[in-house]
Amino acid sequence: MIFTRQLLPVNAQFDALDPKDRVGPILAAVKASGIVFDDVWVETADSPAGEQLRAFARSFESAMAAALKREKRLDARSVHRLHLFAHSGTRIDLSMAKHADTAPWKGGIPRLRFPSEAPSRSTLKLEEGFLVLLDEDERARWLQAGMTAVDLGACPGGWTYQFVRRSIRTIAIDNGPMAESLMATGLVEHVRADGFRYQPQKPAEWMVCDMVEQPIKVAERMATWLREGWCRRTIFNLKLPMKKRWPEVQRCFAAMREAVPFELDLRAKQLYHDREEITVFATRA
Ligand SMILES: C[S@@+](CC[C@H](N)C(=O)[O-])C[C@H]1O[C@@H](n2cnc3c(N)ncnc32)[C@H](O)[C@@H]1O
Repeated sequence: MIFTRQLLPVNAQFDALDPKDRVGPILAAVKASGIVFDDVWVETADSPAGEQLRAFARSFESAMAAALKREKRLDARSVHRLHLFAHSGTRIDLSMAKHADTAPWKGGIPRLRFPSEAPSRSTLKLEEGFLVLLDEDERARWLQAGMTAVDLGACPGGWTYQFVRRSIRTIAIDNGPMAESLMATGLVEHVRADGFRYQPQKPAEWMVCDMVEQPIKVAERMATWLREGWCRRTIFNLKLPMKKRWPEVQRCFAAMREAVPFELDLRAKQLYHDREEITVFATRA
């Protein structure tokens, strides 16, 4: 689900809760389910209206957690979380979801801190990409000090920064200027070249690409890197300013699959920090 941040089954809907007792009816539904939860989240929309409900959500979440505890419906070993989506203070949807089926952040939004040393806010896209597209084990195995990366369209270096902070040597391809702070680490080689023509002299663990170009052109170039073995895995952005985004994504993925003689593991998400674009991970399956 590329364009979906959070996906929850709706188990019950409360359209006119009494502000004097919102907990009661929800607790009754929880008890009837027989499920024990490890936690309760009250989520709101990522919109100005949702923002206005944040204070209510926090206090209602505490009240609900206390009630669940009292009724022995909370157990840290449970794989279920109780989600309450507040449309308003009196209209709430209830969802009983397994951790494995849902985003691990409220509203599917990882609240990442912008590292002050990073040269651009784009750094949060790659950081979120690592968090969303890779699991914990993959991050530990595939992002190790001493590995190598190529960053196509690197300037000023927000993505390169994500590798440098992990002591991964990075070749930064861009005609623009790289941040001095990154060059001073000695881990970055800046090559002024066309990212669509550049070929590495040695294979790299990673190639990442944030060049603003037609999605199909980027996708085909990414497939070439994987087919030729120039990198083992890649994360890249596909800019999708068009209305028919999903057909365009399908076209790009089909072109990539056709261009390589092996199965591709393709994972994609429109990240919270993305704009009119999606972030894709690709490797040989
Ligand atoms: C969105 S910015 C990249 C931001 C970067 N990821 C960061 O975190 O700081 C796109 C960059 O791609 C570069 N670019 C665009 N087309 C390119 C090409 N054909 N070859 C090399 N760089 C290119 C631009 O010069 C620009 O610096």
